[in-house]
Amino acid sequence: MLFAGANVNNFVPQPQKVVVQNGVSTFADGSTVGYSRPELKAAAEYAAHALSDVTGVKFRAVKGSGSVTLRLNKKTTVEGAYTLSVKSNKASIAGDGYNGVINGIATLLQMFDPKTNTIENATITDAPAYQWRGMHIDVSRHFLTVDEVKRVIDVIASYKFNKLHWHLTDDQGWRIEIKRYPLLTEKGAWRTHNEQDRICLARAKAWDNADMVMPADRYREIDGKKMYGGFYTQEQIKDVVAYAGERGIDVIPEIDMPGHMLAAVSNYDGVACFAETGWGNTFSSPVCPGKDSALEFCKNIYKEIIPLFPYEYVHIGGDEVAKENWEKCPDCQARIKALGLKNEHELQSWFIDQMEHFFTQNGKKMIGWDECIEGGISKTTTISWWRSWAKDAPTIATKQGNKVIVMPNHRFYLDNDEDQADLQNIYTYDVAEHAADPSLVFGVQGALWSERIPTIERLFYQAFPRAFAIAEIAWRKQNSDFDAFKQRVAGQMVRLNSLGINYRIPNYDNFKVLRAFVDKAEVNLSSLDATAVTRYTTDGSIPNENSPLYTGAITVTENTLFTFRNYHANGHPGDCYRTRYERQEYGLSFLPSGNEKPGLKAQWYDYRGPICSDIESAKFMKQFIVNDVTIPDGAKNNIGLVITGYINIPANDVYTFSLLSDDGSVLTIDSRLVVDNDKEHSALQLAGEMALSKGLHPICVKYFDHNGGILQLTVTDSRGNVLPTEGLYCH
Ligand code: ACM
Ligand code: ZN
Repeated sequence: MLFAGANVNNFVPQPQKVVVQNGVSTFADGSTVGYSRPELKAAAEYAAHALSDVTGVKFRAVKGSGSVTLRLNKKTTVEGAYTLSVKSNKASIAGDGYNGVINGIATLLQMFDPKTNTIENATITDAPAYQWRGMHIDVSRHFLTVDEVKRVIDVIASYKFNKLHWHLTDDQGWRIEIKRYPLLTEKGAWRTHNEQDRICLARAKAWDNADMVMPADRYREIDGKKMYGGFYTQEQIKDVVAYAGERGIDVIPEIDMPGHMLAAVSNYDGVACFAETGWGNTFSSPVCPGKDSALEFCKNIYKEIIPLFPYEYVHIGGDEVAKENWEKCPDCQARIKALGLKNEHELQSWFIDQMEHFFTQNGKKMIGWDECIEGGISKTTTISWWRSWAKDAPTIATKQGNKVIVMPNHRFYLDNDEDQADLQNIYTYDVAEHAADPSLVFGVQGALWSERIPTIERLFYQAFPRAFAIAEIAWRKQNSDFDAFKQRVAGQMVRLNSLGINYRIPNYDNFKVLRAFVDKAEVNLSSLDATAVTRYTTDGSIPNENSPLYTGAITVTENTLFTFRNYHANGHPGDCYRTRYERQEYGLSFLPSGNEKPGLKAQWYDYRGPICSDIESAKFMKQFIVNDVTIPDGAKNNIGLVITGYINIPANDVYTFSLLSDDGSVLTIDSRLVVDNDKEHSALQLAGEMALSKGLHPICVKYFDHNGGILQLTVTDSRGNVLPTEGLYCH
């Protein structure tokens, strides 16, 4: 089954205007989808197929009018807009453009009540807020088959996404046949397991989770070695593009350059700066913009790409380019000199500019990741803003007149753990926040980088339900009634279940890794998903399908380690959540000596390691006094911080310490570990509790980061009141 209903109370995205009328419509076997014009034939066939799936009765496409009739409006006011009317067992959809008709079909499909298979009579007038409603998939880090990509297309089309950004190449795998350069796939599409694969397999084992195991059909024996990967022939690409087109989705190819191109620079001469290629400090050897042969190579690749994708845009990539080689390369330096460029950033801009000229000559517009603006960029480039820490990128771009696709990683990278990119934070995100000219915000896009996504099951788990929030802000701009949205999401989960599409049951409300109690505690879990169940263990083992079911509040009086795991109605398990319940005394506090000064001591070390415990072995740089747990102004680049002092606790109570950091952090109070948020990671907030007596308690936060960084601590009492930062002292 590909489709399933939801009913008019559970639309995602919510249409602009729904007027429900009396009565319901039903459709019987032999129903038809009529189309008024030949260009709607594909839409009618798609609708007939999808409606048959949803209703269980047979629909077929016919020329002329039908039980459902599709029409194109004479004039397009907003591309993608449509009206839909259902009455007297008939439906009629009139769309602004093909995509408008497809959006009307998506709405109609969601209107079938799964219990009764009927539709409430209604008139719907609807239009998208943004023209770019995108989803990005990365088939380089882990490959998806043609059928899997089509499943992704089916699902996102049904939520009115209209762009699929297909990240086809990267250092970990080249996934598209280029006839002129066959080694790109012969060699570049296959690998022995890399570190990312090993991490996936280790997690599969540690979490007992089959979704983290690379599928067996993605292995080949090549020269006696077991190799992992895959690629698409150009014929397969055409097939996927046509399939997506019928569903109103433009496919935008990204052949990332001049960085992230290991298969190209390693297998062909004259593409990189030097004969030796591989990895620099962080990124792979880039293309050499100093060599004409390298530019020729890049253009030759796109010469084969362009005819396969009949849409306006191609994506050049342009992110994360290591410029060390360019600094040393005589050809790059000669180019910089000959063109009078200031530096390597301008060399990158020149390269991007050359490619844009080439695209323009070939009838295409260019999109690039936001690094592309660093050395200047033409006004005609559209920017994908992904670096959430580069907040001025969308401002600079829109000031210049460039269109921007908004997808900052702290919210829109769905491969990240939910946490800071949770349903609510995405839903309430102000899309135009950093735009100098909001009319240049082209739209929004989710991203599914696949380093930790080895299967389609895991892809859907990361994508849903958060992709609903993206679908809705793309359709309606900013939204505020989150509670109403959440209820509709719960309705859509029923739909995902019947489609067999995996999804992550959002975090339990108010989840903490450490719960403190003095006498006893109640374990209360609430989940958005009424169709799912939670199983748990108390011995540290991973719950399985035989573990006890959580059926209501559990009272604990002793130290207990809970491991919870959600299971979908079909038995499919998700990830585990651990929380330790700890019986504590309020404990001793210090009396003020009178010598305390306001603020905390923050010692900065030049630290490059991956865990907090080693920070003090690095070179000491400087001491600051900070009035909060925060990164001091003046500490930069490689940051290791040890922040110490006392926290003044106003009364005996159980306090919650929420520690947000990017990368790792660790909090101790009274020398006891309260929050372990250690190791390299993107912004992640973990909360732990502690029973504390009135008075001063020693506090220590260790933190490290190598690029940007966030550090924030919030302390609340048991009634949820936030403690003021005036209560922090040091000697
Ligand atoms: C990116 O995430 N490197 C665009
Ligand atoms: Zn070079």
